[in-house]
Amino acid sequence: MCERDKGVTEKTLLMARRISFINYKGGVGKTSCIVNVAAVLAARGKRVLLVDLDAQSNSSIWLMRLERWNRLHSTGKGSLYSIFDPGTDRIRDIVQHDVVHDKAGKPLLPGLDLLPTTFNLIDVEHEYKEPPGRPPYVTFQEQLAEIEPDYDFILFDCPPNVMRASQCGLFCTNEVYVPSNPDALSLIGLTLLVNKLLQFNDRSASFRARGMGNPARIEGVIFNGIKANVDIQVPKMRLQFTLNQLRNQKKVGANARIFPAEVRDAVIVRRAVTLGLPVNLVGQAQEESDGVLNDYKAVVGQLVRHGEELQ
Ligand SMILES: Nc1ncnc2c1ncn2[C@@H]1O[C@H](COP(=O)(O)OP(=O)(O)OP(=O)(O)O)[C@@H](O)[C@H]1O
Ligand SMILES: [Mg+2]
Repeated sequence: MCERDKGVTEKTLLMARRISFINYKGGVGKTSCIVNVAAVLAARGKRVLLVDLDAQSNSSIWLMRLERWNRLHSTGKGSLYSIFDPGTDRIRDIVQHDVVHDKAGKPLLPGLDLLPTTFNLIDVEHEYKEPPGRPPYVTFQEQLAEIEPDYDFILFDCPPNVMRASQCGLFCTNEVYVPSNPDALSLIGLTLLVNKLLQFNDRSASFRARGMGNPARIEGVIFNGIKANVDIQVPKMRLQFTLNQLRNQKKVGANARIFPAEVRDAVIVRRAVTLGLPVNLVGQAQEESDGVLNDYKAVVGQLVRHGEELQ
């Protein structure tokens, strides 16, 4: 157990909440939402591990900034794919502790750790030859379990598919949330995602170890990038209808819901990426940054309440 966890209480030894953000549609705000949710949780004193499962490496580049990330990218060492090939690194050795630094290396957000990825994660999809009877998600889960007691939350930023990299997160996850834009394509993607997730759960059931909890289930939809003065009542009603059907069919969580908390469209979200900071560290007391930061805080409040309902 790492130095900062000395003196852990009984409560902190309970399982981390393991949550994936995924949508079959790209560019809906999965990465922006999960990075900012992780940052708000860390600012509240939670111990958070953000796992970048997308070979695009957006959350890794964002939080490590290009220079530090490039060191992993150029050597291939210390990024997630190295646990598969050459298979010499273990997850516990490659976590970037307190990942957000200032230029002098001083941690700016203690408690937010990152399991980083580089572009080579794409090779897990086709190049990687798994040992017989040992899918990548089993290797991943076993290694993640070694560090799970160090965290209150483990958050998986997934690519827009349910292929092997995503499966690593989904296998370890109990709760899935779907960031979504209020457009037709995002909404169509939900039914596809649910069906693919259920298929994966069936396929991976025999590999589940005791103590992993229930297989991944969709628990909520988070609307992101909501523009002022744009009425989203119709897409919301359509989605609610689909979600009700899926709930009745027991294909999603019994309390799965559209989060009342929505994240507005705000330029500061894009600027935060350029600065290599989550929104809560951008430090501009502008109306805009305050507004969207409050949205992320409201999403975190909803996630916490939803977690309490699940217990
Ligand atoms: N609330 C917001 N306000 C303004 N811009 C946003 C907001 N959320 C996301 N964006 C911008 O939209 C783009 C896509 O967001 P993001 O990368 O988070 O989506 P994604 O779903 O993770 O995409 P991908 O499927 O490629 O992983 C980015 O340029 C991001 O900065
Ligand atoms: Mg993303």
